[in-house]
Amino acid sequence: MNMLLEINSLTKRFGPITAVDNVSFSVERGEVLGFLGPNGAGKSTTMKMATGYLSPTAGDVKVCGYDVQSHPIEVKRRIGYLPEGAPLYGEMTPFSLLNFVSDIRKLSREERKHGMEHAIESLHLQRVLHQPIETLSKGYKRRVGLAQAIIHEPDVLVLDEPTDGLDPNQKHEVRELLERMASTKAIIISTHILEEVDAVCSRAIIISQGRIVADKKPSELEMESVYHNAVGIRLLNENVEKCITVMNEINEVLSVEHVDQSDELIHLVVFPKKGADILTKVNSALDENKLKVAEMYLEKGRLEDVFRDLTLNEGGVGSKGVDPTSGVKEAASHA
Ligand SMILES: Nc1ncnc2c1ncn2[C@@H]1O[C@H](COP(=O)(O)OP(=O)(O)OP(=O)(O)O)[C@@H](O)[C@H]1O
Ligand SMILES: [Mg+2]
Repeated sequence: MNMLLEINSLTKRFGPITAVDNVSFSVERGEVLGFLGPNGAGKSTTMKMATGYLSPTAGDVKVCGYDVQSHPIEVKRRIGYLPEGAPLYGEMTPFSLLNFVSDIRKLSREERKHGMEHAIESLHLQRVLHQPIETLSKGYKRRVGLAQAIIHEPDVLVLDEPTDGLDPNQKHEVRELLERMASTKAIIISTHILEEVDAVCSRAIIISQGRIVADKKPSELEMESVYHNAVGIRLLNENVEKCITVMNEINEVLSVEHVDQSDELIHLVVFPKKGADILTKVNSALDENKLKVAEMYLEKGRLEDVFRDLTLNEGGVGSKGVDPTSGVKEAASHA
């Protein structure tokens, strides 16, 4: 069976608040799904229901074909969960916690030996194995949380902000660990780090106010950005005016934006009409007009920009995205 996690019309209400509103999606073996959304969007609540830690107001969840509500034991055997903030038993050491989790999970001797070795090694816990968890740094606590989530080698992993609090090296290692495990499991991670989605996720779901507003590959999301196929140019001030005129003469160019200035160089971004491929034409136009540029690059699109478009409430804070429809303009914050 390849559909390892199935979420059907899941809804959760807390009194008057609808935290999760009719959410449905499935995750196959081999997928790493990035679960994105602003604070309070309903990510953690969805994950708690997916793992059986919170019962839904409506809808259901199946893990490897087992209903989470009616078959909790079968489900817990097949799922690993890293909760938000990972509350752990502070007075235990990582070693005693992992043994304790192995007991609860009724792992055989062989499974325990293999699971502990794998988890300790993958999360680099050797150095702190016998130190009380409450005395560990935030990053190490997170790693202990991840270790307990993978110790029984579950088919489904639900990780709520797994790289939160980790230093850049550890973030990288956790991403590599996820990549190594990806082919044999279905993995969901929630994150606020959009570059993480690019780095490890084969698919991304964006939720806003409890509802799914996008469910696509990261590359497809990037294509929705106004920056998709935009061309950045850095050139001397004396050439800027002519360059803007020449770029605006290209049929597929929507607008040229004056982004910023570094040293003597001016930074322009040439936006295409609806994702058009303008690179060759921009290049030829620069050549034909003998316009020398110091640097030119192609944008694939910015997830951050798509995320903002999809999740900002009307009139919300920070709703001034780039508007490439307004011709040449000054903008300081999009270098
Ligand atoms: N036990 C609870 N009682 C009342 N409201 C709750 C409870 N748990 C969550 N909520 C509310 O449900 C909504 C969704 O919260 P949730 O924690 O799922 O968001 P999130 O997407 O994980 O946010 P974050 O990015 O900050 O972690 C929020 O409005 C939150 O205040
Ligand atoms: Mg959360």
